[in-house]
Amino acid sequence: MKEEPLEPGSASGADRKSQQPSFIRRRSFLQGLGVSSAMLLPTTLLADRDDRRKKLPRGDVAILRFLAAAELIESDLWEQYNELGGVKGGNAAYQLALENLDSDMPQYIADNTDDERSHAAFLNAYLESRGDQPVNLDAFRMLPSSQATGAKQKGRLTNLMNLNVDTSWYTRYRSEENPDFGATFPQAVHIVGEPAIPVDDADTPPGMMQPPVPVTHQQRRMQAIANTAGFHFAFIEQGGSSLYTIMSLKVTSLEVLRIVVSIGGTEVNHFAVWHDKAGNAVNVTDPETGVTFPDLNAPPFGGEEFQTNLIFPEPCDFLKGEKLPPCSVIRPSLDQNGGAVATIKAFTEGGLFLGQSGGFFAAAMELANAADAAHRERFDED
Ligand SMILES: [Fe+2]
Ligand SMILES: [Fe+2]
Repeated sequence: MKEEPLEPGSASGADRKSQQPSFIRRRSFLQGLGVSSAMLLPTTLLADRDDRRKKLPRGDVAILRFLAAAELIESDLWEQYNELGGVKGGNAAYQLALENLDSDMPQYIADNTDDERSHAAFLNAYLESRGDQPVNLDAFRMLPSSQATGAKQKGRLTNLMNLNVDTSWYTRYRSEENPDFGATFPQAVHIVGEPAIPVDDADTPPGMMQPPVPVTHQQRRMQAIANTAGFHFAFIEQGGSSLYTIMSLKVTSLEVLRIVVSIGGTEVNHFAVWHDKAGNAVNVTDPETGVTFPDLNAPPFGGEEFQTNLIFPEPCDFLKGEKLPPCSVIRPSLDQNGGAVATIKAFTEGGLFLGQSGGFFAAAMELANAADAAHRERFDED
Protein backbone atom coordinates (compact mmCIF):
# COMPACT_ATOMS: atom_id res chain seq x y z
CA MET A 1 0.00 0.00 0.00
CA LYS A 2 1.09 3.48 -0.74
CA GLU A 3 1.83 5.84 2.14
CA GLU A 4 0.59 9.42 2.06
CA PRO A 5 3.18 11.93 0.86
CA LEU A 6 4.86 14.02 3.51
CA GLU A 7 5.23 17.76 3.52
CA PRO A 8 7.77 19.03 0.95
CA GLY A 9 11.25 19.40 2.37
CA SER A 10 10.76 16.93 5.21
CA ALA A 11 13.62 14.73 6.41
CA SER A 12 14.24 11.15 5.36
CA GLY A 13 14.89 7.84 7.15
CA ALA A 14 14.40 7.61 10.91
CA ASP A 15 14.15 11.39 11.28
CA ARG A 16 11.52 11.49 8.62
CA LYS A 17 9.47 8.88 10.43
CA SER A 18 9.65 10.67 13.78
CA GLN A 19 8.52 13.91 12.14
CA GLN A 20 5.47 12.38 10.55
CA PRO A 21 2.20 13.73 11.85
CA SER A 22 0.70 11.37 14.41
CA PHE A 23 -2.28 10.46 12.20
CA ILE A 24 0.10 9.31 9.45
CA ARG A 25 2.07 7.19 11.90
CA ARG A 26 -1.15 5.71 13.25
CA ARG A 27 -2.36 5.03 9.75
CA SER A 28 0.81 3.18 8.79
CA PHE A 29 0.49 1.04 11.89
CA LEU A 30 -3.11 0.11 11.13
CA GLN A 31 -2.28 -0.59 7.50
CA GLY A 32 0.29 -3.04 8.78
CA LEU A 33 -2.59 -4.83 10.50
CA GLY A 34 -4.43 -5.11 7.20
CA VAL A 35 -6.97 -2.35 7.73
CA SER A 36 -7.96 -0.84 4.40
CA SER A 37 -7.56 2.74 3.35
CA ALA A 38 -11.28 3.09 2.72
CA MET A 39 -12.01 2.20 6.33
CA LEU A 40 -9.33 4.53 7.64
CA LEU A 41 -10.11 7.74 5.84
CA PRO A 42 -13.21 8.81 7.72
CA THR A 43 -11.59 8.01 11.07
CA THR A 44 -8.47 10.01 10.38
CA LEU A 45 -10.49 12.92 9.10
CA LEU A 46 -12.71 12.95 12.15
CA ALA A 47 -9.80 12.63 14.52
CA ASP A 48 -7.63 15.30 12.99
CA ARG A 49 -9.88 17.93 11.53
CA ASP A 50 -12.29 20.25 13.29
CA ASP A 51 -14.27 21.34 10.26
CA ARG A 52 -17.22 19.10 11.11
CA ARG A 53 -17.76 20.85 14.40
CA LYS A 54 -20.59 23.28 14.80
CA LYS A 55 -19.69 26.92 14.14
CA LEU A 56 -19.06 28.90 17.29
CA PRO A 57 -21.65 31.54 18.20
CA ARG A 58 -20.73 34.95 16.80
CA GLY A 59 -20.39 36.41 20.28
CA ASP A 60 -17.81 33.80 21.27
CA VAL A 61 -15.81 34.52 18.12
CA ALA A 62 -15.89 38.26 18.92
CA ILE A 63 -14.67 37.56 22.46
CA LEU A 64 -11.86 35.29 21.27
CA ARG A 65 -10.80 37.76 18.58
CA PHE A 66 -10.62 40.66 21.02
CA LEU A 67 -8.70 38.55 23.53
CA ALA A 68 -6.28 37.50 20.76
CA ALA A 69 -5.70 41.19 19.97
CA ALA A 70 -5.20 41.98 23.67
CA GLU A 71 -2.68 39.14 23.93
CA LEU A 72 -0.78 40.36 20.86
CA ILE A 73 -0.59 43.77 22.54
CA GLU A 74 0.54 42.19 25.81
CA SER A 75 3.14 40.10 23.97
CA ASP A 76 4.51 43.18 22.25
CA LEU A 77 5.04 45.10 25.47
CA TRP A 78 6.39 42.12 27.40
CA GLU A 79 8.87 41.39 24.61
CA GLN A 80 10.26 44.91 24.99
CA TYR A 81 10.69 44.40 28.73
CA ASN A 82 12.21 40.98 28.16
CA GLU A 83 14.81 42.11 25.61
CA LEU A 84 16.23 44.59 28.12
CA GLY A 85 15.39 43.27 31.58
CA GLY A 86 14.55 39.57 31.17
CA VAL A 87 16.86 36.86 32.47
CA LYS A 88 18.53 36.77 29.02
CA GLY A 89 18.07 40.48 28.51
CA GLY A 90 20.79 42.73 27.21
CA ASN A 91 20.88 45.69 29.59
CA ALA A 92 22.74 44.89 32.82
CA ALA A 93 22.06 48.16 34.63
CA TYR A 94 18.30 47.85 33.96
CA GLN A 95 18.35 44.23 35.16
CA LEU A 96 20.14 45.27 38.36
CA ALA A 97 17.67 48.08 38.97
CA LEU A 98 14.80 45.60 38.52
CA GLU A 99 16.52 43.19 40.88
CA ASN A 100 16.39 45.91 43.54
CA LEU A 101 12.64 45.19 43.63
CA ASP A 102 13.22 41.42 43.76
CA SER A 103 16.16 39.30 42.63
CA ASP A 104 13.76 37.11 40.61
CA MET A 105 12.40 39.96 38.49
CA PRO A 106 14.37 39.08 35.32
CA GLN A 107 13.17 35.45 35.47
CA TYR A 108 9.58 36.51 36.07
CA ILE A 109 9.73 38.95 33.14
CA ALA A 110 10.95 36.19 30.82
CA ASP A 111 8.23 33.80 32.00
CA ASN A 112 5.45 36.38 31.77
CA THR A 113 6.58 37.06 28.20
CA ASP A 114 6.37 33.36 27.34
CA ASP A 115 2.88 33.17 28.81
CA GLU A 116 1.59 36.08 26.73
CA ARG A 117 3.05 34.66 23.53
CA SER A 118 1.36 31.34 24.29
CA HIS A 119 -1.97 33.06 24.92
CA ALA A 120 -1.86 34.94 21.61
CA ALA A 121 -0.74 31.90 19.63
CA PHE A 122 -3.30 29.60 21.23
CA LEU A 123 -6.27 31.93 20.78
CA ASN A 124 -5.46 32.52 17.12
CA ALA A 125 -4.86 28.80 16.48
CA TYR A 126 -8.17 27.96 18.19
CA LEU A 127 -10.05 30.49 16.07
CA GLU A 128 -8.54 28.94 12.94
CA SER A 129 -9.33 25.42 14.14
CA ARG A 130 -13.00 26.43 14.39
CA GLY A 131 -12.97 27.98 10.92
CA ASP A 132 -12.83 31.57 12.14
CA GLN A 133 -10.47 34.41 11.32
CA PRO A 134 -7.39 34.84 13.53
CA VAL A 135 -6.19 38.35 14.44
CA ASN A 136 -3.08 39.87 12.92
CA LEU A 137 -1.85 43.29 14.07
CA ASP A 138 1.44 43.24 12.12
CA ALA A 139 0.41 46.21 9.97
CA PHE A 140 0.46 48.36 13.13
CA ARG A 141 3.94 47.43 14.33
CA MET A 142 5.18 50.92 13.52
CA LEU A 143 6.28 52.44 16.84
CA PRO A 144 10.00 52.92 17.51
CA SER A 145 12.16 50.64 19.65
CA SER A 146 14.28 51.84 22.55
CA GLN A 147 17.77 52.85 21.47
CA ALA A 148 19.25 51.41 24.68
CA THR A 149 21.68 48.50 24.52
CA GLY A 150 19.76 45.20 24.42
CA ALA A 151 16.69 46.38 22.50
CA LYS A 152 16.07 44.88 19.08
CA GLN A 153 15.47 47.43 16.38
CA LYS A 154 12.05 46.67 14.95
CA GLY A 155 8.58 48.15 14.78
CA ARG A 156 6.44 47.92 17.93
CA LEU A 157 2.73 47.98 18.67
CA THR A 158 3.19 49.66 22.04
CA ASN A 159 5.08 52.55 23.60
CA LEU A 160 6.90 52.04 26.92
CA MET A 161 9.10 55.11 26.80
CA ASN A 162 6.61 57.75 27.94
CA LEU A 163 3.89 56.39 30.20
CA ASN A 164 1.29 57.69 32.62
CA VAL A 165 0.88 54.63 34.82
CA ASP A 166 -2.47 54.51 36.61
CA THR A 167 -1.55 53.11 40.04
CA SER A 168 -5.07 53.27 41.52
CA TRP A 169 -5.22 49.45 41.27
CA TYR A 170 -2.92 49.48 44.31
CA THR A 171 -5.36 51.33 46.57
CA ARG A 172 -8.41 49.69 44.93
CA TYR A 173 -7.35 46.20 46.02
CA ARG A 174 -6.64 47.46 49.56
CA SER A 175 -10.07 49.09 49.79
CA GLU A 176 -13.39 47.68 51.03
CA GLU A 177 -15.13 49.57 48.23
CA ASN A 178 -15.77 48.45 44.69
CA PRO A 179 -15.45 50.51 41.48
CA ASP A 180 -18.57 48.74 40.18
CA PHE A 181 -20.55 50.76 42.78
CA GLY A 182 -18.91 53.99 41.66
CA ALA A 183 -16.00 54.09 44.11
CA THR A 184 -12.82 55.81 42.99
CA PHE A 185 -9.34 55.28 44.38
CA PRO A 186 -6.25 57.47 44.82
CA GLN A 187 -2.98 56.90 43.04
CA ALA A 188 -0.31 55.11 45.08
CA VAL A 189 2.45 56.83 43.07
CA HIS A 190 2.04 59.66 40.56
CA ILE A 191 3.82 58.31 37.48
CA VAL A 192 3.41 60.81 34.65
CA GLY A 193 5.54 61.05 31.49
CA GLU A 194 7.97 58.43 32.74
CA PRO A 195 9.75 55.70 30.73
CA ALA A 196 9.38 52.10 31.88
CA ILE A 197 12.40 50.97 29.84
CA PRO A 198 15.68 52.87 29.31
CA VAL A 199 15.24 55.10 26.28
CA ASP A 200 18.90 55.09 25.20
CA ASP A 201 22.38 54.77 26.69
CA ALA A 202 22.87 58.51 27.20
CA ASP A 203 21.47 58.89 30.72
CA THR A 204 21.23 55.20 31.58
CA PRO A 205 24.52 53.47 30.62
CA PRO A 206 23.82 49.73 30.30
CA GLY A 207 26.97 48.59 32.10
CA MET A 208 26.97 50.94 35.09
CA MET A 209 26.84 49.63 38.65
CA GLN A 210 23.33 49.89 40.07
CA PRO A 211 23.51 49.79 43.88
CA PRO A 212 20.42 48.99 46.02
CA VAL A 213 20.40 52.65 47.08
CA PRO A 214 20.97 54.69 43.92
CA VAL A 215 23.31 57.64 44.37
CA THR A 216 24.28 59.25 41.10
CA HIS A 217 22.02 61.04 38.64
CA GLN A 218 22.28 58.08 36.25
CA GLN A 219 21.58 55.50 38.94
CA ARG A 220 18.52 57.37 40.22
CA ARG A 221 17.24 57.73 36.68
CA MET A 222 17.61 54.00 35.98
CA GLN A 223 15.98 53.04 39.30
CA ALA A 224 12.99 55.29 38.64
CA ILE A 225 12.60 53.64 35.22
CA ALA A 226 12.72 50.14 36.77
CA ASN A 227 10.26 51.19 39.50
CA THR A 228 7.90 52.46 36.79
CA ALA A 229 8.13 49.07 35.07
CA GLY A 230 7.26 47.38 38.38
CA PHE A 231 4.01 49.35 38.70
CA HIS A 232 3.25 49.01 34.98
CA PHE A 233 3.54 45.20 35.11
CA ALA A 234 0.80 45.05 37.74
CA PHE A 235 -1.32 47.67 35.94
CA ILE A 236 -1.35 45.55 32.79
CA GLU A 237 -2.09 42.26 34.53
CA GLN A 238 -4.85 43.58 36.81
CA GLY A 239 -6.49 44.81 33.59
CA GLY A 240 -6.26 41.28 32.20
CA SER A 241 -7.70 39.86 35.43
CA SER A 242 -10.86 41.98 35.14
CA LEU A 243 -11.10 41.62 31.35
CA TYR A 244 -11.12 37.80 31.39
CA THR A 245 -13.56 37.74 34.32
CA ILE A 246 -15.93 40.04 32.42
CA MET A 247 -15.61 38.13 29.13
CA SER A 248 -16.33 34.81 30.87
CA LEU A 249 -19.79 36.13 31.78
CA LYS A 250 -20.62 36.61 28.08
CA VAL A 251 -19.37 33.28 26.69
CA THR A 252 -21.81 30.71 25.34
CA SER A 253 -19.78 27.58 24.45
CA LEU A 254 -18.45 25.58 27.41
CA GLU A 255 -15.19 24.96 25.57
CA VAL A 256 -14.69 28.69 24.99
CA LEU A 257 -15.59 29.29 28.65
CA ARG A 258 -12.88 26.79 29.61
CA ILE A 259 -10.38 28.74 27.51
CA VAL A 260 -11.39 32.13 28.93
CA VAL A 261 -11.37 31.13 32.61
CA SER A 262 -8.16 29.10 32.24
CA ILE A 263 -6.17 31.87 30.58
CA GLY A 264 -7.81 34.42 32.87
CA GLY A 265 -6.49 32.56 35.89
CA THR A 266 -2.91 33.04 34.74
CA GLU A 267 -3.53 36.79 34.33
CA VAL A 268 -4.61 36.86 37.99
CA ASN A 269 -1.51 34.88 38.91
CA HIS A 270 0.69 37.40 37.09
CA PHE A 271 -1.07 40.31 38.78
CA ALA A 272 -0.62 38.82 42.25
CA VAL A 273 3.13 38.45 41.76
CA TRP A 274 3.63 41.91 40.28
CA HIS A 275 1.45 43.47 42.98
CA ASP A 276 3.86 42.10 45.57
CA LYS A 277 6.96 43.28 43.68
CA ALA A 278 5.68 46.81 43.04
CA GLY A 279 5.60 47.38 46.79
CA ASN A 280 9.37 46.89 46.81
CA ALA A 281 9.97 49.90 44.53
CA VAL A 282 12.99 51.80 45.74
CA ASN A 283 12.40 55.21 47.34
CA VAL A 284 13.84 57.52 44.66
CA THR A 285 13.10 60.58 42.53
CA ASP A 286 13.81 60.60 38.80
CA PRO A 287 16.19 63.54 38.32
CA GLU A 288 14.91 64.05 34.75
CA THR A 289 11.13 64.01 35.29
CA GLY A 290 10.72 64.61 39.03
CA VAL A 291 8.57 61.46 39.39
CA THR A 292 8.96 60.38 43.02
CA PHE A 293 8.54 56.91 44.46
CA PRO A 294 7.76 57.44 48.16
CA ASP A 295 8.16 54.99 51.02
CA LEU A 296 4.62 53.62 51.00
CA ASN A 297 5.03 52.27 54.55
CA ALA A 298 5.97 55.60 56.17
CA PRO A 299 3.76 58.63 56.99
CA PRO A 300 1.87 60.18 55.30
CA PHE A 301 1.46 56.78 53.63
CA GLY A 302 1.18 53.40 55.37
CA GLY A 303 -2.00 51.96 56.91
CA GLU A 304 -4.69 49.95 55.15
CA GLU A 305 -4.47 52.09 52.01
CA PHE A 306 -0.75 51.85 51.30
CA GLN A 307 1.07 49.30 53.50
CA THR A 308 3.12 47.32 51.01
CA ASN A 309 2.50 43.78 52.28
CA LEU A 310 -1.31 44.06 52.18
CA ILE A 311 -1.37 42.45 48.76
CA PHE A 312 -4.26 40.03 49.15
CA PRO A 313 -7.54 41.45 47.84
CA GLU A 314 -9.42 43.00 50.75
CA PRO A 315 -13.05 41.80 51.03
CA CYS A 316 -15.19 44.49 49.41
CA ASP A 317 -18.73 45.30 48.36
CA PHE A 318 -19.64 42.82 45.64
CA LEU A 319 -23.27 42.14 44.72
CA LYS A 320 -26.24 44.33 45.60
CA GLY A 321 -28.25 42.89 48.45
CA GLU A 322 -28.70 44.14 51.99
CA LYS A 323 -27.74 40.88 53.65
CA LEU A 324 -24.73 40.08 51.49
CA PRO A 325 -21.42 40.53 53.31
CA PRO A 326 -18.20 41.86 51.74
CA CYS A 327 -16.32 39.37 49.58
CA SER A 328 -12.72 39.17 48.37
CA VAL A 329 -13.08 39.28 44.58
CA ILE A 330 -11.59 40.48 41.31
CA ARG A 331 -12.86 43.99 40.68
CA PRO A 332 -14.13 45.61 38.57
CA SER A 333 -16.27 42.96 36.91
CA LEU A 334 -18.67 45.20 34.98
CA ASP A 335 -18.25 46.01 31.28
CA GLN A 336 -18.10 49.76 31.68
CA ASN A 337 -15.27 49.54 34.19
CA GLY A 338 -13.11 46.73 32.83
CA GLY A 339 -14.59 45.31 29.62
CA ALA A 340 -12.99 45.36 26.20
CA VAL A 341 -13.61 49.03 25.38
CA ALA A 342 -12.66 50.08 28.93
CA THR A 343 -9.40 48.12 28.57
CA ILE A 344 -8.43 49.82 25.31
CA LYS A 345 -9.35 53.20 26.81
CA ALA A 346 -7.27 52.57 29.94
CA PHE A 347 -4.27 51.45 27.89
CA THR A 348 -4.67 54.50 25.63
CA GLU A 349 -4.92 56.94 28.54
CA GLY A 350 -1.74 55.46 29.97
CA GLY A 351 0.15 56.24 26.77
CA LEU A 352 0.63 52.61 25.73
CA PHE A 353 -0.44 53.43 22.16
CA LEU A 354 1.23 56.85 21.93
CA GLY A 355 2.05 57.44 18.24
CA GLN A 356 -0.27 54.73 16.93
CA SER A 357 -2.27 55.33 13.76
CA GLY A 358 -5.95 56.07 13.42
CA GLY A 359 -6.25 52.70 11.69
CA PHE A 360 -4.99 50.95 14.80
CA PHE A 361 -7.51 52.63 17.09
CA ALA A 362 -10.32 51.93 14.63
CA ALA A 363 -9.39 48.24 14.45
CA ALA A 364 -8.95 47.93 18.22
CA MET A 365 -12.26 49.63 18.97
CA GLU A 366 -14.14 47.55 16.39
CA LEU A 367 -12.88 44.35 18.02
CA ALA A 368 -13.59 45.76 21.50
CA ASN A 369 -17.13 46.87 20.71
CA ALA A 370 -17.96 43.47 19.22
CA ALA A 371 -16.62 41.68 22.30
CA ASP A 372 -18.53 43.91 24.71
CA ALA A 373 -21.72 43.35 22.70
CA ALA A 374 -21.46 39.56 23.06
CA HIS A 375 -23.85 37.82 25.42
CA ARG A 376 -24.67 34.27 26.51
CA GLU A 377 -26.97 32.36 24.23
CA ARG A 378 -28.51 28.92 24.08
CA PHE A 379 -26.04 26.55 22.46
CA ASP A 380 -25.82 22.78 22.29
CA GLU A 381 -22.20 21.67 22.35
CA ASP A 382 -21.15 19.24 19.64
FE1 LIG B 1 -2.16 37.06 28.55
FE1 LIG C 1 -1.03 39.05 30.99
